[in-house]
Amino acid sequence: ENTQLKDIISHAKEYGFIFPSSEIYDGLQAVYDYGQMGVELKNNIKNLWWKCMTQLNQNVVGLDAAIFMHPLVWKASGHVDSFSDPMIDNKDSKKRYRADVLLEEKAAQYENEGDVEKANALLAEMGKLLEAEDLDGVRELIIREGIKCPISGTANWTEVRQFNLMFSTEVGSVADETNTIYLRPETAQGIFVNFLNVQKTGRMKVPFGIAQIGKAFRNEIVARQFIFRMREFEQMEMQFFVRPGTEMEWYNQWKETRKKWHEAIGIPAESLRYHDHEKLAHYANAAVDIEYKFPFGFKEVEGIHSRTDFDLTQHQELSRKKLQYFDNDLNEEGKPYGNYIPYVIETSAGADRLFLMTLCNAYTEEEITEGDNTKSRTFLKLHPSLAPVKAAILPLTKKDGLPEKAEKIFNDLKFDFNMIFEERDSIGKRYTRQDLIGTPFCIAVDHQTLEDDTVTVRDRDSREQVRMPISELKNYIEKAVSF
Ligand code: GAP
Repeated sequence: ENTQLKDIISHAKEYGFIFPSSEIYDGLQAVYDYGQMGVELKNNIKNLWWKCMTQLNQNVVGLDAAIFMHPLVWKASGHVDSFSDPMIDNKDSKKRYRADVLLEEKAAQYENEGDVEKANALLAEMGKLLEAEDLDGVRELIIREGIKCPISGTANWTEVRQFNLMFSTEVGSVADETNTIYLRPETAQGIFVNFLNVQKTGRMKVPFGIAQIGKAFRNEIVARQFIFRMREFEQMEMQFFVRPGTEMEWYNQWKETRKKWHEAIGIPAESLRYHDHEKLAHYANAAVDIEYKFPFGFKEVEGIHSRTDFDLTQHQELSRKKLQYFDNDLNEEGKPYGNYIPYVIETSAGADRLFLMTLCNAYTEEEITEGDNTKSRTFLKLHPSLAPVKAAILPLTKKDGLPEKAEKIFNDLKFDFNMIFEERDSIGKRYTRQDLIGTPFCIAVDHQTLEDDTVTVRDRDSREQVRMPISELKNYIEKAVSF
């Protein structure tokens, strides 16, 4: 396994960012909890997204729809019939695998060995078989490639079957099919079914958007992907409703806006790239992923999809309620555009993926020289607006009234920033601890503070200290941590 990823995973555990779910029971596969630092970082990411979507765009408003929805929603959206992965079981180990992932791993192996042509040919053949829904063909390909189960070491495979990724449960007390409901596999459908509610009550005019952050659930078969692919995760989605025929313009605009946003939160442009989809989902007429260069390669963090009028049309059909919009703007002939079902551009980001991206990007190891000594230092170079703790207030010693003075500074600033007050251990050790959680500023209170009301402020990245009046702290920090 990738050593850099391993370091990041143990750092995340050790400093209270991510814990395996139910760890005292040995964990639950592909489910994780956010610890005391993780929840702050994740909230900061979500709040920044929310602000940039809703507050900065006059025509985008928010929504918080329920996780449970009417079962017909998932029939209409296509999830009941086609939201599935091709799975294969090894008869000896009884382990289940995604058939397409087994083949992709084989292709990656060819590529690593330098045979790119062979890798591409394999992927192309797999793509054709999956498109034709030839599951027997997929099994034959797995056998022909000699792919073995990593656990049993045998190639004793069952047939390939499609498994739906949705979790289901029952409402009420009687377990029959009519009571089966699903945990939403995407937040988008909550937006579609509320499209007219929001449009009418908010007097929204096309083009407009609805943004939502919330949990989604998928029964993913995964191993060792940390928080990249989870069974319970959080999405940050926005559906932007536009006049038919204008969708490509908006698609291109959102594609660009979203990539710039990732750069604005501190991700270098060279660590991001677009990946256009050639094979489109059932609902899309154009789709692109924004990918980040994780330690395990470029992988998707956000998707931008041109979903046409697919979802609203489907919901109109199954609910038998009109989901049209009346557009009274005038067209080239001077007549109102009239009634239509809007087209939709979707931006869909995973909060957990952005969290992992942010953490990977921030994780920094560097050699530093202090006098004659060279040592290595690890710190999180987080964008200050995302850092879980903005400042640490550190009295130099535990006596002479320094803790009291420091506490007063803490109490004056705590309404503005999330901070830590820390008086244990040497000042050097305390700086190190703050570096490890990415705190941009350490404020030291020393004897001079008692005389002239000044403190030293240490910068996380440069380790340089400046002396400034206590009265200037608020502005100084605010300037750095605002977005
Ligand atoms: N509404 C469209 C949609 O759900 P998607 O590409 O399936 O599209 C969008 O998911 C985003 O949600 C992905 O780019 C990813 O960031 C996140 N995501 C999807 N599945 C995930 C999982 N199992 N664990 C964590 N994040 C996931």
